[in-house]
Amino acid sequence: MDTQDNQRAVPATALTVEEAIAAAQSAGTAPVAPAPAPQPALAEPKPAPPKPAAPKMLGRTIVITSGKGGVGKTTTTANLGTGLAEAGKQVVVVDADVGLRNLDVVLGLENRVHKHLLDVIEQKCSLDEALVRDRVRRSLYLLPAAQNREKDDVPTDAMAALVQTLAERFDYVLIDSPAGIEKGFRNAIVGAREAIIVTTPEVSAVRDADRIIGLLPPETEAKLIVNRVRPLLVKKGTMMSVNDVVDILRLELIGVVPDEKEIIIATNRGTPVIDIDGSQTGAAFRRIVKRLLGEQIPIPSFQAPEGFVSRLKASLGLGKA
Ligand SMILES: Nc1ncnc2c1ncn2[C@@H]1O[C@H](COP(=O)(O)OP(=O)(O)OP(=O)(O)O)[C@@H](O)[C@H]1O
Ligand SMILES: [Mg+2]
Repeated sequence: MDTQDNQRAVPATALTVEEAIAAAQSAGTAPVAPAPAPQPALAEPKPAPPKPAAPKMLGRTIVITSGKGGVGKTTTTANLGTGLAEAGKQVVVVDADVGLRNLDVVLGLENRVHKHLLDVIEQKCSLDEALVRDRVRRSLYLLPAAQNREKDDVPTDAMAALVQTLAERFDYVLIDSPAGIEKGFRNAIVGAREAIIVTTPEVSAVRDADRIIGLLPPETEAKLIVNRVRPLLVKKGTMMSVNDVVDILRLELIGVVPDEKEIIIATNRGTPVIDIDGSQTGAAFRRIVKRLLGEQIPIPSFQAPEGFVSRLKASLGLGKA
């Protein structure tokens, strides 16, 4: 059964030796420590005090947000989560869009959602019961959103604590933010140390992105993805170029994703486009995953492809069409 499967497979928090011993003793399975030996007459040098336990390595917490709706946050979260899991990382994607719930559909996991984020926060179920494990990429988990609840139902401090718990167990916690700047957005960013701002090259999307960048805590490390770029329109001068967007938002660019119909086909199939060979969008997401993992991968310019007529004219020395 899924739930049991999930419970077994979630990476467990490592116990320190002291914690493990204390747990074993309280369960009556560890030998009781012998009574202290009588002190010798001459005081021996005291043993060195125990070293403090090494701090737990926390996973990266990244919110995917935008301000404007429909620019590709959920698509980005699903694809980056899939790519990171395929790179061997333990990943949880959190659907923080309470009331709408989309991430499960894009990942093809909608039939396996039984519990959700608010059930965990309200202690109606354990975290393990709510997590849905992907059947193909075994290190990818989804924490679904509630569909029949309001964004205002989620207490912000409880959300922060939940993200912290996840960061103790997973290498990557990716949080899919709802659109807007209200409580849903505030809850999505509260536990995240990093942010990926997704925008399309449209004035309204860039303006909303600018607004939310100003609302992020100053210590949040923010990077930019420009999605749905159409090189032909850029070339014609009817779409903002990626450089224009970067100039306005002044964030480090971590990826440019072209507009492509494959993504809609993939979404309808519940297969993230990153797994589709030959898709330009999938290749763009694969490059972003590598950059997240620290590789230096150049960002292609996505210039408009040269058409037959322009190539012919160029070869005849007639200039470009
Ligand atoms: N690069 C792309 N090329 C073509 N279509 C895309 C691309 N990125 C996203 N889309 C499509 O745009 C629509 C909105 O995408 P998505 O749901 O990821 O946006 P969102 O920002 O999460 O929206 P919301 O604000 O409603 O949560 C979807 O139909 C998706 O398939
Ligand atoms: Mg969404």
